[in-house]
Amino acid sequence: MPILSVRGLQKSFGNFNVVRDVSFEVERGQKVAIIGPSGSGKTTVLRCINFLERPNGGVIEIDGERFGVRMTGGSERFESDASLAKKRADIGFVFQRFNLFSHLTALDNVALAPRLVRKMPREQALEIGRRMLARVGLSGKENNYPDALSGGQQQRVAIARVLAMQPKLILFDEPTSALDPELVGEVLAVMRDLANEGMTMLVVTHEIRFAAEVADRIIFMDGGQIVADGPPRQVLYDQPTDRMKQFLRSLSSDNAPTAGAPS
Ligand SMILES: Nc1ncnc2c1ncn2[C@@H]1O[C@H](COP(=O)(O)OP(=O)(O)OP(=O)(O)O)[C@@H](O)[C@H]1O
Ligand SMILES: [Mg+2]
Repeated sequence: MPILSVRGLQKSFGNFNVVRDVSFEVERGQKVAIIGPSGSGKTTVLRCINFLERPNGGVIEIDGERFGVRMTGGSERFESDASLAKKRADIGFVFQRFNLFSHLTALDNVALAPRLVRKMPREQALEIGRRMLARVGLSGKENNYPDALSGGQQQRVAIARVLAMQPKLILFDEPTSALDPELVGEVLAVMRDLANEGMTMLVVTHEIRFAAEVADRIIFMDGGQIVADGPPRQVLYDQPTDRMKQFLRSLSSDNAPTAGAPS
């Protein structure tokens, strides 16, 4: 059974159909990258998966269970915010702009959700927090506030915060695109480690080289639709559409894929 199933997802803002009939699955342990031009609907798909954005149609299932909607007396109802918040705890979300609490230390940022959502005793949550900070290479930074950390370090705290909840699946929305170029590598290295450890990951990224190396599949979105979904080699090189070639050309040269790139 797939850990994530998205079927017929639709989302519009006013009259503008931003996501148009998007369907895909992610199996347990799979790494799937979503790429595509700006405005193609990538962020909206991620936000609809955990109902940060309420879809207009379609079905989201996490681990075989319907997400965001429950059946009562034969009709569908949106789940309450409280019930959604509880279920979201199983799905990590790493934002482009870290979204750490600025008034909390790195350690407290990581330990907060285990305490509040998982109702863990304080000492246990702090212990998990320390372990997760160590896992992303930030031992010694426990007491730093976010503004005393680099962007790369803040993003690693954000990843540690997600890991502390032992998620079934982590959604990443361009986790490195707000970073100075010299800080991108340290975040990608942590993501590579997670991938190697078998974490299930759905990653929106412009880091095509990373996607080609780490992802089992690449989904290419354009105009709110999936136009390609397959192994990296197939999607990027074997039969690239004109739009794909155009997209790959639009990427900066230090990020473009290497071997076999379409000319
Ligand atoms: N809350 C909103 N209200 C109105 N329009 C929105 C809203 N959120 C997104 N959109 C529009 O939906 C389209 C898709 O946006 P989305 O952020 O999903 O694209 P994206 O593929 O993530 O782009 P980028 O690569 O720039 O992050 C865009 O045209 C955007 O302007
Ligand atoms: Mg986006």
